[in-house]
Amino acid sequence: MEKRASPSSLLLIAALAMASFQPLLEAVSLSKANFADNFNIMWSEDHFKTSEDGQIWYLSLDKETGCGFQTKERYRFGWFSMKLKLVGGDSAGVVTAYYMCSENGAGPTRDEVDFEFLGNRTGQPYLVQTNVYKNGTGGREMRHLLWFNPTEDFHSYSILWNNEQLLFFVDKVPIRVYKNNGKPNNFFPNEKPMYLFSSIWNADDWATRGGLEKTDWKKAPFVSSYEDFSVDGCQWEDPYPACVSTTTENWWDQYPAWHLSETQKLDFAWVKRNLVIYDYCEDTKRYPTPLEECSLSPWD
Ligand SMILES: *[C@@H]1O[C@H](CO)[C@@H](O)[C@H](O)[C@H]1NC(C)=O
Ligand SMILES: *[C@@H]1O[C@H](CO)[C@@H](O)[C@H](O)[C@H]1NC(C)=O
Repeated sequence: MEKRASPSSLLLIAALAMASFQPLLEAVSLSKANFADNFNIMWSEDHFKTSEDGQIWYLSLDKETGCGFQTKERYRFGWFSMKLKLVGGDSAGVVTAYYMCSENGAGPTRDEVDFEFLGNRTGQPYLVQTNVYKNGTGGREMRHLLWFNPTEDFHSYSILWNNEQLLFFVDKVPIRVYKNNGKPNNFFPNEKPMYLFSSIWNADDWATRGGLEKTDWKKAPFVSSYEDFSVDGCQWEDPYPACVSTTTENWWDQYPAWHLSETQKLDFAWVKRNLVIYDYCEDTKRYPTPLEECSLSPWD
């Protein structure tokens, strides 16, 4: 695939889309806070480093192990964002993940919303895989190419989550729209509060060209960097926090956050035309009858 430059019109469109998201300006940014205030290290503390000022966090993978961290708090609905710079050079087999999950482990009834960055051989493009789980069942994968090299600079990856839709953003461009049909027993995670997680691990059994490209351990350690975590959402408190109600007090629960804006539609159409590599809704071998949510229109 030929490397395409981001058209400047797209950036302008993205900027306009942001402008229409005024409430973001009021986001409670946790980025200046100490890492330890917001996160716990999940495993392998010695594979985890921060910059001197504590603003950048480095996760490393070697032959022994990867590592990961998670928020102390859980959230239900809101805007969740992080900037990542992915493992550069030869990163085949390496997966960097940024995701939300209702549980600490891969429990059988978890809800989950994933961004996974699948590394590649030097000069070959990363893929972004997104997925949605409800009550332990997933299988809602999409894969996208990016319009920039994600190993050169930090870019933001964000999730907007409310009772109507889940949007996956890359630098404020919505790359995926996942809708709630509002019916009972639907496949939309909207009940369980979720933690945010980040991790790096070896997945050379499947990640790169379906597992054909193995991790080259001579290139280890593989390091991904994180900064500017921000949440503007409803922090969970047992049994039920006031902010989680369906009163539309919060911007993410209001009408403009339930649908793509006109400018977001243009961006999303561009992504659909140019960057989608895989969509489970189109995979008729795997799902001869498309899953129910596949009939929902992202444009509504
Ligand atoms: C969730 O999954 C569990 C175990 O797979 C099942 O027993 C339960 O009924 C499911 N709950 C809902 C609400 O579907
Ligand atoms: C890696 O590069 C190859 C060759 O360009 C491409 O087919 C593949 O989709 C890329 N990404 C992954 C994760 O395999």
